[in-house]
Amino acid sequence: MSAPETRTAPAPTAGGGMAAVEAGARAAAKSDRATSSAAKTATFRVWRGDAAGGGLVDFTLQVSDGMVVLDAIHQIQAEQANDLAVRWNCKAGKCGSCSAEINGMPRLMCMTRLGELDLSQPVTVEPMRAFPRIRDLVTDVSWNFAAKKSLKPFKPRAPDAPDGTWRMDQRDVDRVQEFRKCIECFLCQDVCHVLRDHHKHDEFVGPRLLVQAAMLEMHPLDTEDRVDDLRRAHGIGYCNITKCCTKVCPEGITITDNAIIPLKERVVDRHFDPLAKLVQLVRGRKR
Ligand code: SF4
Ligand code: SF4
Ligand code: FES
Repeated sequence: MSAPETRTAPAPTAGGGMAAVEAGARAAAKSDRATSSAAKTATFRVWRGDAAGGGLVDFTLQVSDGMVVLDAIHQIQAEQANDLAVRWNCKAGKCGSCSAEINGMPRLMCMTRLGELDLSQPVTVEPMRAFPRIRDLVTDVSWNFAAKKSLKPFKPRAPDAPDGTWRMDQRDVDRVQEFRKCIECFLCQDVCHVLRDHHKHDEFVGPRLLVQAAMLEMHPLDTEDRVDDLRRAHGIGYCNITKCCTKVCPEGITITDNAIIPLKERVVDRHFDPLAKLVQLVRGRKR
């Protein structure tokens, strides 16, 4: 009986050895990536029902890390629940349609990767709580559009030049640019406790519409006065600057610091600071 064959790898040369080690490392990394994106099983606990009531239903399916929650919902629709209602349009974080609560946090389903979730536990997917439920994951967000109509519209001053054009400081233009990024996903409205928990929809327009008010109020050409409306009709005093709205905004708009606080300052200047009020009356223009 012959002895088992023993093969010995040739001793590495200086250059070739390093190349082999690097190639091995690349192969290992590739293998790790392949393993982490390989199909696995996950359970999604999805709210199903309508305005009359409903509850959470578990769906178990094969997923991979590259998928987003909206992909999983579509897969459930295709394979297990053809009548599952979900609103979406762009699947690119730009239309603001697929807002939901994922593991209790207001988020866009199309921008939430499964790789960032703990799939060892069921992933809950529920409709936004600040608005009436229509069916499954779809809510009625029409209140936001009705409330938006209560804001006084843009009212530009007369043109600065005979050719009908205006002159603006670039810093003033830049200041409102951030507010124009809003995609009207209403996640900030959903997270705001004044609407979500206290249901003050009749007295408070919410962070999304305060962003809109800031965009108009701080526009360098605008001449409208919205300060009294902000205090009374729009209920800005209800905001206690918890900054939850800023944290959930998928567009990264600094809602509280850049929109709400400057608007609150205008209200305070007008109603609670007689000196500031006098200065504004003398200057006769917005800041
Ligand atoms: S900072 Fe104000 S508007 Fe934003 S979530 Fe908190 S209370 Fe609501
Ligand atoms: S401000 Fe941000 S969170 Fe609120 S509606 Fe606009 S994009 Fe959505
Ligand atoms: S589908 Fe458009 S933002 Fe998600």
